[in-house]
Amino acid sequence: MNKNFYITTPIYYPSAKPHMGHAYSSIIADFFARAKKIQGFKVFFLTGTDEHGLKIQRAAEKKGMNPKDFCDQISITFKDLSKTLNLTNNDFIRTTEKRHLKSVQNLWNILEQRNEIYLSKYSGWYSVSDEAFYSNDEIEDIDGIKKSKSSGSLVEWVEEESYFFKLSKWQKPLLDFYKKNPNFILPKSRKNEVVSFVKAGLKDLSVSRKSFSWGIKVPSNNEHVIYVWLDALTNYLSALNYPDINNHLYKNFWPASLHLIGKDILRFHAIYWPAFLLAADIPLPNRIYGHGWILSGEEKMSKSRGNILDPIKIIEKYGLDPLRYYLIKEVSFGNDGNISQEKLENCINSDLANNYGNLCQRIIAFNEKNLNLMIPNEINFKDIDLKILNDFSLNYQNLIKYLDNQDLNSYINYIVEKLFASNKYFNDEEPWKCKDDKIRLNTIIYVALELIRKITILLYPIIPETSLKVLKIFEIDENKIHLETIKDNNFLKLGQKIKKLSILFKKIDTND
Ligand code: MSP
Repeated sequence: MNKNFYITTPIYYPSAKPHMGHAYSSIIADFFARAKKIQGFKVFFLTGTDEHGLKIQRAAEKKGMNPKDFCDQISITFKDLSKTLNLTNNDFIRTTEKRHLKSVQNLWNILEQRNEIYLSKYSGWYSVSDEAFYSNDEIEDIDGIKKSKSSGSLVEWVEEESYFFKLSKWQKPLLDFYKKNPNFILPKSRKNEVVSFVKAGLKDLSVSRKSFSWGIKVPSNNEHVIYVWLDALTNYLSALNYPDINNHLYKNFWPASLHLIGKDILRFHAIYWPAFLLAADIPLPNRIYGHGWILSGEEKMSKSRGNILDPIKIIEKYGLDPLRYYLIKEVSFGNDGNISQEKLENCINSDLANNYGNLCQRIIAFNEKNLNLMIPNEINFKDIDLKILNDFSLNYQNLIKYLDNQDLNSYINYIVEKLFASNKYFNDEEPWKCKDDKIRLNTIIYVALELIRKITILLYPIIPETSLKVLKIFEIDENKIHLETIKDNNFLKLGQKIKKLSILFKKIDTND
């Protein structure tokens, strides 16, 4: 079994500072990176910024800056955000880097050599905001203004000489590939969307622009810059040192295991990207997962709509782990979801403070009072104890399946269920009434500590900082977290000391 895992986020346009939608893509990718790590995989996690094209050129012009200086300034805010979000990314790629230029020009040359690209003329609609070409039936006229039907962004008429990629020729191979690899695009609904689009017929794709210069030059014709999406998608290869396919990164990590993207950029990843790769005879990634949007009210959160929520401000006020938890639990993965301060506060109070925080705090406090912060040294499991403990080993394969299928909703639901069950176990077993039955008292405490340990390991990819704090009381550091150990009911060493635990989540007064 291949124990390497390569996961990517989309590379973000540094046209403006990051917002909650960008933070969402990154946090979810970090969740999967961490989940794979604790399953023993070697993980390569990539994120970065997409810095070429007309969108960036115009944004820089608006500020009276040259595009490179402009990108330098904003790209750093994305890099900083990845630190603030505690991402475990191994690399942060910028498409203005030399290593990327080399990769893109190389891929272009291969496509040209293989006769997949030809010179012609483009006339049609273009959206600078989406950096996308649209056909006549994909746009609409609203009060004399032409817009893309799918994204609502303005389109402008373009007529210029352009290189074309023979996309039409890949229609059948793509459909065959989707059929053979039914989980290539997830969730299923998005796959169906892509398949019907491809079935309707693919036109050759314009892959160069001549009327502006901010991009990577076509190697054989300096008057053209390469279409920003062909440029951007190649980042997934350039970070692995492509075209040097014998280096250890490319060898170990290509093809990518998971390109995590937002649903708005599905066409580029699920149609254009595999077609470019097929045409260049490069293996295709294993999976494209298109997640939903973070909405503000009913609308997609985006800079152009002016309805953005700054993740840094939310983290300053509430902390990182509560935000990560909220986005993973309250936004049903695959669908659109909402975030507001009120909802976040309710989630912190009910799930983190009352449920998880309370479980940890009360059990450690009870242990301190009765056993002076020691793991009991004599225990005897009853059926009721084994029932709740064994549930983790019984469901282990299911949990792995949830992770493999990106079924985040089932994964988190399992944890929430176990939290309720564990609090209920402690209430029902009433260890405070066992003063005369030392072994029963010890056993209940031991089971409760094991439950905390198991649940905290499951929570690690979601709330890593808090999880590490809790695991530390058992002397489990980050490199000793192994998901498999949740199957073990006797992991904690009898008689060993544990550490005190400070408050994990403060309850928020929602009347403030
Ligand atoms: N630069 C391209 C991606 C190139 S990948 C080879 C791009 N950049 S973007 O900055 O506009 O968006 C990056 C990612 O952020 C996309 O996956 C997009 O879906 C996501 N989000 C931007 N706003 C979002 C929300 N409001 N909600 C969730 N994610 C959204 O597209």
